Parts: sequence; C-alpha cells; structure tokens
Amino acid sequence: MRVGVLTGGGDCPGLNAAIRAVVRKAVVGYGDEVVGYLDGWRGVAEGESRPLDVERCRGILPRGGTILGTSRTNPFKLDGGPERAVATLERDGIEALVAIGGEDTLGVADRLGSLGVPVVGIPKTIDNDLSATDVTIGFDTAVQIATEAVDRLHTTAESHDRIIVCEVMGRHAGWIATYSGIAGGAAAILVPEEPFHIDAVCEYLTRRHAKGRFASIVVAAEGALPAEGTIEVASPELDQFGHPRLGGIGSTVAEEIERRTGFESRVTILGHVQRGGTPSAADRLLATRFGTAAVDTVHDGGWRQMVAAHGLAIERVPIADAVAKLKTLDTGLFRSVAEVFFG
Ligand code: F6P
Repeated sequence: MRVGVLTGGGDCPGLNAAIRAVVRKAVVGYGDEVVGYLDGWRGVAEGESRPLDVERCRGILPRGGTILGTSRTNPFKLDGGPERAVATLERDGIEALVAIGGEDTLGVADRLGSLGVPVVGIPKTIDNDLSATDVTIGFDTAVQIATEAVDRLHTTAESHDRIIVCEVMGRHAGWIATYSGIAGGAAAILVPEEPFHIDAVCEYLTRRHAKGRFASIVVAAEGALPAEGTIEVASPELDQFGHPRLGGIGSTVAEEIERRTGFESRVTILGHVQRGGTPSAADRLLATRFGTAAVDTVHDGGWRQMVAAHGLAIERVPIADAVAKLKTLDTGLFRSVAEVFFG
C-alpha cells in the first residue's frame, strides 16, 4: 500500500515520534511505502512531498518539532484547494492518508474523507482540547514545561516578595493552566471556561500575603476571560481557521493586581517554549502507540476514524466525533480541586 502522512496546525513535542511509528509499522509491519507531505495541508494542496523510510526516521524519536514541517493552511479556503488536494493524492497513488493534527487539521481530513479520500487521524495538540480522546500528543510535555516554569517563578517571586502572573497557552481551554497550576501550587488559576473576577483574585492574594511573606504565582491561560464588565481586553486577529491570535491577558492581569493591591507584580508569558524541545516519555509513548494503531486502522479500512486514548486503551472513534465540539476543561476538577488551593 502507499500511505501518505502529514502534520498540520501548531507543532508540538511528540510529532516526530508519531511519524516514526507510522513509518516503522507501515514499512516493517505491512511492507507499505510511505510518503510525507510537507507543511500539513499545504503540501497536499501544492503537491509537495518526500519519501519516508526507516532510515530517514532514525534519531527523531526524542526531537521536538516535525521533520515534515507544519502550517495552518486550510485547503477549503484556497481557490480549488480540495480539488488540488485530491489530484495530488491521485497523482502520488496514495491509498491512505494519515493526518496528525488537532481540531482544524482533522476537520479538513474529515471533509476530504467525505469526498472519498481515505483518511485516518491521529490527535495532537498541546491544548488537549480535542473531543473523543482523553489526551492528545503534546499535552503532557506542555504541562511539564509549564509546571517547571511555575516552580522556577516561585523561587524568584519569594526572594522579591512579588506576585508573578504566568501566562500559558490554551485559547479556548484551560487544561494546561489547570494542570500546571495544580501541580505548581498556583495561588489562582484563570481559564477561559470560568470567567474570573479580578476582585476575587486580588482578595486571594491579599489574604495570602496578610499572613506573611509568601510569593504568589497566578497561572493564566492565554484565553482566560475576565467576567463581563470587569476588565477590558482588546479583540485579537483571526487565523485561516478563524481562531484568535492571543497573548497578553497575563500583562493586563499583572497590571490590575499591582494597581489594586499595591503588591509588586510581574508577568511571564511562556508562549512557544511550551511547544518546543524534547517530548516527555509519556508523549513519546502515546505518539508511538497512536502511530502504530493508525497504521492498523489503515489496513482495516477504518476511513474517517481517529485513534484515541480511553484510559489505558487505544481505541478508534469517528473523526467527526473528535471535531464536533471542543473538549473544554472538566469544571469539576477546577472547582473541587484547583480552587481549594487558591489564596
Ligand atoms: O496549537 C495550539 C496553540 O499552541 C494554542 O495554544 C495557541 O493559541 C496557538 O497554538 C498559537 O499559534 P501560533 O503558533 O500560530 O502562534
């Protein structure tokens, strides 16, 4: 069989581990040939690819990023994009296409699947906001990086008796903020799912500091929402999939805290550090399990299916279920665990 593979959307640690697993399982397990499309759907729409084999994948398991490159190209937004994508796959004799991506990349995969393209999906995004799977490739590493940052911010904040707001990624979902905030002992966590009141945040910090010289770290997801009528935030630009380009709520929150409490405050925006570098062992393992399971799905003709983690098992779900709606934060975890430690 000739199998295509691509990585689309924002990159994350673990993509190379998934590519390697797809290649190894396809080539060694089934005797397939594998073609890698460059920069996600851009490579399919523009016919840019390169052959992949076991030798070409040596040494990539622990490397962050993606050897195939990635982009946020949406072929459905390009003139004749879907037709060009189908034509490329026909020209290359592709009998199955494995798309490694989040909501946008897999949404495109499913739409092309409905036009007859034989697609299988692998879920990735540091945001962990894809439905129908417990976890996505990249999330564990991002949480580890953010937690380590919170630990480091604690010691400098303690020395100076400061508040530090640590802004992490997550435009529509507060998974990274909540996991790293709980793991790092944040004094408050701000997420998109639970609009926050700046007065309540200042109250936590004032109460905590009244008891002595305690540094406080506030973890804020980039998509954290102030409750209506509290603080103004500027409207961001949108990308090709209509997503806002965020970054900056942390600075606004730090300024408001300093203005309202008088505590010296700083902000650290972690940004793309969370998406770079070596994947955690858990992400390498997950990516390897997803990659091998995706090739089995290909050979079973499981078109428009995505491999998914359910507890300890890897199962198959319709891609449509994964992209139907975003998997937002478990608010039970936020209210009954995270909030207990605020202040
Ligand atoms: O891929 C998800 C994500 O990392 C979001 O958390 C973040 O808002 C966005 O991508 C950033 O995108 P870009 O790398 O295009 O700036």
